[in-house]
Amino acid sequence: MVKLAPSILSADFSRLGEQVQEAIAAGADWLHVDVMDGHFVPNLTIGPLVVEAIRPLAQAHNVPLDVHLMIETPERYIQAFAQAGANILTVQVEACVHLHRTVQAIKEAGMQAGVALNPATPLIAVEEILPFIDVLLIMSVNPGFGGQTYIPTSTAKIARARAMIDRQGLAVELEVDGGVKAHNAAQIARAGATVLVAGSAIFNKERSVAENMTAIRQALAEVDSRILNL
Ligand code: DX5
Ligand code: ZN
Repeated sequence: MVKLAPSILSADFSRLGEQVQEAIAAGADWLHVDVMDGHFVPNLTIGPLVVEAIRPLAQAHNVPLDVHLMIETPERYIQAFAQAGANILTVQVEACVHLHRTVQAIKEAGMQAGVALNPATPLIAVEEILPFIDVLLIMSVNPGFGGQTYIPTSTAKIARARAMIDRQGLAVELEVDGGVKAHNAAQIARAGATVLVAGSAIFNKERSVAENMTAIRQALAEVDSRILNL
């Protein structure tokens, strides 16, 4: 089954707890938390305090907190996010001079390690780190904001990432983040993604969190059933 990771970036922050509960009740597999520093990306968002605040809700239902650092020198914040309760900590490959050391530090702090790639960063940048990580995150928009349009060439990149993971015989999760909606979820899953992040497609004013998640799940059902029938 392809996992769904609602990104709280698009949630109504005046009632964040409720929104997190809605996503958990609707079957969120992971909760995706977007951390931005105003340097690596133009936007500023949230830090360890918010992770700590939603941790009890996530832990009560065994939903991993998937924290995506879009920040410079992310190694400075590994301990802070570990203490706040992050389960998976993902760093951008472009922000790490000593990526292997950073990945080791994340694991030593008791978390799973993820590495993210911007749309213009070639997959070759993660070939050597792949055996050491738990999650490979393909950005399908330029990071910084929710609600952007999926970059169509991402699908071919996801398929190449799938092949790279399989070629090395690894069990790395292949996560896709940016512009994921009900209309493109199936194509992304078919290319080999195992975790889909969705922000504005899940938290919006048009429909409830549960309705939005059901719509994406329905789009994925066809792909899941085909995989099960193999
Ligand atoms: C983008 C973030 C994403 C964002 C996705 O910089 O990394 O996680 O929340 O939002 P949507 O699903 O609206 O593109
Ligand atoms: Zn993200």
